[in-house]
Amino acid sequence: MDQGSGSKSRLESDGAPDIGDWHGDPTGLAGQHLLSLLGVRRDQMIALFDVAATLERLQREHRTPPLLHDSLMVSLFFQPSTRTRFGFEAAMHRLGGSVLSSAHVNETRAGLRHAGAYTEALDDMARTLSRMVDIAVMRHSEVGVPAEFARHAVIPVINAGDGIGPGSEHPTQALTDLYTMHKEFGAVDGLSVLVAGSLQLRVAHSLLYGLARFKRMQVFILCPPELYWTDIEDAMLRTLGGAYQRVRRIEDIIDQVDVIYHNGFTEEQMEGPRDGYCVNAALIKHARPGMIVMHPLPRDLEVDPSVDLTRHARYFQQVSNSIPMRMAILASIMGQAGAVLQLKETAALSTR
Ligand code: CP
Repeated sequence: MDQGSGSKSRLESDGAPDIGDWHGDPTGLAGQHLLSLLGVRRDQMIALFDVAATLERLQREHRTPPLLHDSLMVSLFFQPSTRTRFGFEAAMHRLGGSVLSSAHVNETRAGLRHAGAYTEALDDMARTLSRMVDIAVMRHSEVGVPAEFARHAVIPVINAGDGIGPGSEHPTQALTDLYTMHKEFGAVDGLSVLVAGSLQLRVAHSLLYGLARFKRMQVFILCPPELYWTDIEDAMLRTLGGAYQRVRRIEDIIDQVDVIYHNGFTEEQMEGPRDGYCVNAALIKHARPGMIVMHPLPRDLEVDPSVDLTRHARYFQQVSNSIPMRMAILASIMGQAGAVLQLKETAALSTR
């Protein structure tokens, strides 16, 4: 497979690739890594929503184009996953692409060390896989490992979640979540969003970076002091202009928000008194009629099953939305976002 032709050649191993031109590359992601949401602009996210919505409609009409039929994705999950791993693999298959995957990635040469086995540094694994596939999706327990892998790869790399604590991110979960808000409310701009749970978790970081890009946002943060990450305030201040505030309990703010986004806690963090942090059907009786409850899943006690059958629950809808969004991300990085939007134009013309 020729890694030096077409949009794939624009990715260089030693520097940031060029942003694509607006018409041929509407999301500006062709040939790019997707490692953090800090580097993704509002206009790029809105273009991704458009690509995702088009793919969602085409899929509903059983007209999904096999745009990635000659592309191969490797799925490198060094940490457990249900939604992200199967979501990316499903998205690739739905676009006609193929997937290389291992149930036991720790048994590759770059996995956990095994007595008596030759092992391999991650940079050599990146160089090796770059010669086999067109794109890599990686989850790892350590912050920065997907970025380090990307530095040595000559194919685009997507961060499917890296580590916990300062600097950790899960950018494709956040894009899915922003797409969900966009679909529910018609726009992300102007929303009032409560982000609850541990600010040590990677989903919260990417989501806050994403929310900060939109206009007229009201962002509330509910996080126990010991699980707060002060650096996120700097990042939020730089992009949100300080338009967020910390709150003490969900019930203090429930009647003022469009979205409760519960990010949850790790099992260890959930231990101890978490009064004021749990959502249940009784509490959301005080919410605005259109308020939605979101969660990246898996959940623990923070979102009670009594919420599931209310009109407010959207956490399983987030899973549905993750497929068109991950299709949009893959299509964009593989240089096919323009082709998707052309199909939208054609469909619009043919129905006039
Ligand atoms: N939301 C999320 O990342 O889920 P998984 O860990 O199952 O991929």
